[in-house]
Amino acid sequence: MIYFKTNLLIILPIFTSIVKAWNSDNHTCALTKPIFSCENQTTILDTCCTPTEGLVLITQYWDTYTGLESEKSFLPLNSWTIHGLWPDRCDGSYGQYCDLSRQYDPFPSPNTTNGKIDGIPVPIWQGGDIITPLLQKYGKYDLLSYLEKYWKSQGSPDWTFWQHEFSKHATCFSTYDVGFEGVPNCYGSIYQNSTEASIIDFLESVIKAQIQYPTYEWLSDEGIKPSNQTGYNINKIQDILTKASGAQPYLGCYGPTKQILSEVWYYSHSLGRPQEGILKPINQTTKTNCNSTQPIWYYERTPGSEY
Ligand SMILES: *[C@@H]1O[C@H](CO)[C@@H](O)[C@H](O)[C@H]1NC(C)=O
Ligand SMILES: *[C@@H]1O[C@H](CO)[C@@H](O)[C@H](O)[C@H]1NC(C)=O
Ligand SMILES: *[C@@H]1O[C@H](CO)[C@@H](O)[C@H](O)[C@H]1NC(C)=O
Ligand SMILES: *[C@@H]1O[C@H](CO)[C@@H](O)[C@H](O)[C@H]1NC(C)=O
Ligand SMILES: *[C@@H]1O[C@H](CO)[C@@H](O)[C@H](O)[C@H]1NC(C)=O
Ligand SMILES: *[C@@H]1O[C@H](CO)[C@@H](O)[C@H](O)[C@H]1NC(C)=O
Ligand SMILES: *[C@@H]1O[C@H](CO)[C@@H](O)[C@H](O)[C@H]1NC(C)=O
Repeated sequence: MIYFKTNLLIILPIFTSIVKAWNSDNHTCALTKPIFSCENQTTILDTCCTPTEGLVLITQYWDTYTGLESEKSFLPLNSWTIHGLWPDRCDGSYGQYCDLSRQYDPFPSPNTTNGKIDGIPVPIWQGGDIITPLLQKYGKYDLLSYLEKYWKSQGSPDWTFWQHEFSKHATCFSTYDVGFEGVPNCYGSIYQNSTEASIIDFLESVIKAQIQYPTYEWLSDEGIKPSNQTGYNINKIQDILTKASGAQPYLGCYGPTKQILSEVWYYSHSLGRPQEGILKPINQTTKTNCNSTQPIWYYERTPGSEY
């Protein structure tokens, strides 16, 4: 209720700019010469055509179970799963929940836009799953079944994770803007509902980027397969993925001695919109946190968790 009151105050003055932005035409990126994001910010003439927060991260998980196997949620055989597609600023810092008019995350984390106690609260979304019905409405059953297979949440329904990623990250990519607070509406008036257009556009972009980074295959081709018997040297894994992807990724490990491998983040610059999926590999800006003195675990999935 408190959220509703504060939002109402904020929304009223913004309303006029949304209306104005609705007529924000002329963002036909096909007519512009594409440039790489983060290589010269002053050359970005149309923020719909090149992301201003243009250090693009392709992020993945290695989980061993979903926690919802009893509800028939399994991990994909021989594949890492999708975490997201993130817009970092060129210096490696980042924003989150950049457009609260597109807040569909039932578990906002952090719960304020700057992650601090005095930040703007991110209202909790209580309207349930909007992505599944949206994809069904537009006949994108193929996309939906791909997401259901490869974009897995742990311990909560997959749609909660998709909506979290969209609201927390996609809203900070200028190329999916829909006219909030005076920014352009990149979708112009072609679509009845630009927000829906931006959601579908983002989901497709995530897939387009992710399929270029087959982590499981890259490791498996070099003999690194999940094992509960043999630990691996993190530098070996880092070298394989650096060679295969074209730049050094960040590898994430957890556990008290940081010996359980669970994440990879690949960094890139995008040629024009990330929607096109033309990504130039860039070295990590966050240093791998895995234990480099002792072998790390790349665990096998829990029996019955894979499909
Ligand atoms: C959009 O482009 C047309 C054709 O070049 C031009 O006449 C019009 O002024 C432009 N509108 C805006 C808002 O830039
Ligand atoms: C960036 O682009 C601007 C405008 O094209 C140009 O004047 C400037 O020299 C460029 N800067 C660098 C570092 O290339
Ligand atoms: C955010 O979470 C913190 C820590 O759990 C809590 O103290 C704070 O009240 C929460 N803020 C909002 C706006 O929900
Ligand atoms: C546009 O779509 C979003 C997401 O489905 C929905 O929340 C919003 O109400 C729609 N806006 C309009 C004007 O129909
Ligand atoms: C790495 O693992 C060893 C042995 O498990 C442990 O003693 C050491 O503190 C770990 N290093 C880090 C940075 O966690
Ligand atoms: C990444 O860093 C390595 C070692 O510092 C360097 O040799 C390489 O050129 C860098 N790669 C890219 C894509 O910047
Ligand atoms: C491998 O070990 C992990 C971590 O203990 C466990 O979750 C998983 O079930 C194990 N897998 C197999 C096939 O034993």
